[in-house]
Amino acid sequence: MPPIRIAPSLLSADFGRLAEEVRRVEDAGADLLHVDVMDGHFVPNLTIGLPVVEALKRVAKKPLDVHIMISNPLEYARRYVEAGAAGLTFHVEATDRPDAVIDAILAAGGRPAMSVNPETPAERLLPFLDRLAMVLVMSVRPGFGGQKFMPEVLPKFARLRAAGFRGDLEIDGGIGPSTVAAAAAAGANVFVAGSAVFGAADVKARIGELRSGAERAAAERAPVR
Ligand code: DX5
Ligand code: ZN
Repeated sequence: MPPIRIAPSLLSADFGRLAEEVRRVEDAGADLLHVDVMDGHFVPNLTIGLPVVEALKRVAKKPLDVHIMISNPLEYARRYVEAGAAGLTFHVEATDRPDAVIDAILAAGGRPAMSVNPETPAERLLPFLDRLAMVLVMSVRPGFGGQKFMPEVLPKFARLRAAGFRGDLEIDGGIGPSTVAAAAAAGANVFVAGSAVFGAADVKARIGELRSGAERAAAERAPVR
């Protein structure tokens, strides 16, 4: 099993003080920094783009886990990796040419990952699994932080493992102290959390709580064959 990792989503950070917010979650034990790029087209929200990823890269000590919710990933994949994304996640719903996007990420030196929206079956990813470092299962409709967790997406993790996938399994949307264990029990090992981390009075305690909840549930889980 790949290790448990906690990835605070900077979407819930104070955008007026991003460098401080990065330091705050890094000091509190974040393993990765999740960066949500939205284009106002693939999703009904517009957030940050290449210049901000470059700026984050200059101040971050932990790897940038960049999630692009954009309609034209092929056009931008290489540039996001060059801007500082260690891992780059694009959506299967956003392109007819996933292999070309994966090629672009690999050529730029990034870790390729693909995501599925809640209504998209995990089966759409099967042709690409042997080229991916990670799969991201969305547990809310992408676009906004602070939405309610959708437990019906959880069986996707077992399908991906049953298909032979051995990389990281990430979950994004509505993860907090009350949902992290179910996600870990289902097989996720990378946990994105925006509002649950940045909305906590004690960020370090909250990241610790998410990590211990995930570790306990993962340890109790029967191994997937
Ligand atoms: C939603 C984003 C998420 C978001 C999660 O489209 O992909 O990363 O920040 O926020 P929470 O953890 O508040 O659901
Ligand atoms: Zn995200």
